[in-house]
Amino acid sequence: MAHRWTNTLRDKDVTPEAAFLNRRQLIAGAAAGVGLGLGGAPAWAEALTPNSWEDITRYNNYYEFGTDKGDPARNARILTVSPWSVTIDGLVDRPGAYDFDEIMAKMTIEERLYRFRCVEAWSMVVPWNGFELADLLDLAGVQSAAKYVAFETVLRPDEMPGVRYPVLDWPYVEGLRLDEALHPLTIMATGIYGRDIPNQNGAPLRLVVPWKYGFKSIKSVVRITLTDKEPPTSWNKANPREYGFYSNVNPEVNHPRWSQATERQIGGGLFSARVPTLMFNGYAEEVAGLYAGMDLKKNF
Ligand code: MTE
Repeated sequence: MAHRWTNTLRDKDVTPEAAFLNRRQLIAGAAAGVGLGLGGAPAWAEALTPNSWEDITRYNNYYEFGTDKGDPARNARILTVSPWSVTIDGLVDRPGAYDFDEIMAKMTIEERLYRFRCVEAWSMVVPWNGFELADLLDLAGVQSAAKYVAFETVLRPDEMPGVRYPVLDWPYVEGLRLDEALHPLTIMATGIYGRDIPNQNGAPLRLVVPWKYGFKSIKSVVRITLTDKEPPTSWNKANPREYGFYSNVNPEVNHPRWSQATERQIGGGLFSARVPTLMFNGYAEEVAGLYAGMDLKKNF
């Protein structure tokens, strides 16, 4: 595919933030130059300014390690992330446990600079490294009866102090419609700034769906199940009135307890103004078609 240009970035290829910013200019230029359709450069190559490594790795939601924003950075160190395998099962031709290192050897790792919008109305811009979920699903061979994809986070009470508390029904689970899962913007992230993804951000691999609220982007995935039924999702189970299955970023559909019209940009300073939230988090051109004809207020 025309938009792929990097391969298997791991810790040895660490990109300092300054170098990253320079290279990004080249990438955006190159992407525009190869003619990726009428829109020119794809959404992930647009000129955004990424948040710092500190912002991205110290202000986290990963409730298995505690509910304060600093808890994951403090507590997730003890999570064992190697060896790691992902079970892919359900409606696939080749079900089984897929070893993480073997997955990495087969995937093309790219940089994707994405907006990230939490349902709590804060946002960041993150330079992920990862591969398209569609390529991983190809390894297992999706059967034609599959309509949804279910995801599950590892559950290790010995390593996860937060799961002593019934904040959520553990393990954390999420789900996508199959067409959402196969969309080229949907990735499994394995790195940030060219370094291995830190435990608090969901090592060794986590989902990233940039047009949906952040809680859909499930961390430390150990199981992916192809199914013909809409799968249960953690926040929807906890409070179905507040968190729907779709959870597309939508400034016109407020959370029952707060407005979703604007967001606070992390790293913007204490007194920075809130900025307007964009429909589908700025990815409407790419993804609005997935929801054509749907009532987005009902299917929130
Ligand atoms: N995945 C698991 N397993 N547990 C969690 O608590 N939190 C979600 C999502 N994925 C969460 C999770 C929420 S609410 C957000 S906003 C993002 O992770 C935060 O990702 P980040 O810490 O990398 O910014």
